[in-house]
Amino acid sequence: MQAPMIQFDHVNKNFPQGKTQAVRDLSFDIFSGEFITVLGTSGSGKTTTLKMINRLIEADSGTIRFNGQDIKSQDVTDLRRQMGYVVQEVGLFPHLTVAGNIAVVPELLGWSKGQIKARVDQVLDLVHLPAADYRDRYPKELSGGQQQRVGVARALAANPKVMLLDEPFGAIDAITRSSMQTELKEIQQQFDDKTFVLVTHDIMEAFTLGDRVMIMDQGQLCQFDRPQAIIQAPATPFVAALMDTVKQQSRLWSELS
Ligand SMILES: Nc1ncnc2c1ncn2[C@@H]1O[C@H](COP(=O)(O)OP(=O)(O)OP(=O)(O)O)[C@@H](O)[C@H]1O
Ligand SMILES: [Mg+2]
Repeated sequence: MQAPMIQFDHVNKNFPQGKTQAVRDLSFDIFSGEFITVLGTSGSGKTTTLKMINRLIEADSGTIRFNGQDIKSQDVTDLRRQMGYVVQEVGLFPHLTVAGNIAVVPELLGWSKGQIKARVDQVLDLVHLPAADYRDRYPKELSGGQQQRVGVARALAANPKVMLLDEPFGAIDAITRSSMQTELKEIQQQFDDKTFVLVTHDIMEAFTLGDRVMIMDQGQLCQFDRPQAIIQAPATPFVAALMDTVKQQSRLWSELS
């Protein structure tokens, strides 16, 4: 059997100021090429979990392995270069153009100017922003949705094996959101060895995009399975309640239409 690419083994995280434990006894395996979605209410520990994968947050106890090796024993810069990261708040550098933002990591890696320019155009193309129009703009000259696309392009730039995405479509209207979801799935399918971990609080997004969905509540993992398996057999009352909200919405929809 294939070895896990990312492995959490009884991981805990407590913030000194936090009233409750942010992440509690979290264990799971993620395999290369999977599209994982992490679903949960606000404060359930999704961002904390994602940030522990690239060591922006260090676990208090338990072990996190990347390609079988404890991440604590890996060089942190080296680890992060293998992982593209899209932050919840977009976080583009305001003083850099779109091209400059995308080039940050390739420049750190010492790529040539020609290589970087070609890659900038290529990743802008992947997120459907024509390079000629967007390359030289500054973040403030973009809409929120376009900024989020640039955030995804920047994370893809150095061709990482793992993409960590924290609510990448946060402040986006439903139609743009839906087309960006499709684009992201297409990007992932183009590269069969790229692993995606995408955090969302949107149930439909989690169940549409995820090969497997991780459902979190109050810092704990409630269920981690294929969408169909979760729908057929919710593991906890919380998951069942979550599934009920979808049913209620679709009932309302069919009553109104
Ligand atoms: N730096 C911190 N200091 C203290 N408490 C924190 C810190 N970061 C997160 N927490 C707490 O840890 C818990 C989990 O936070 P986390 O950011 O992981 O939630 P989340 O699931 O990403 O929520 P959201 O959907 O709102 O982004 C929350 O109770 C939060 O208040
Ligand atoms: Mg969060």
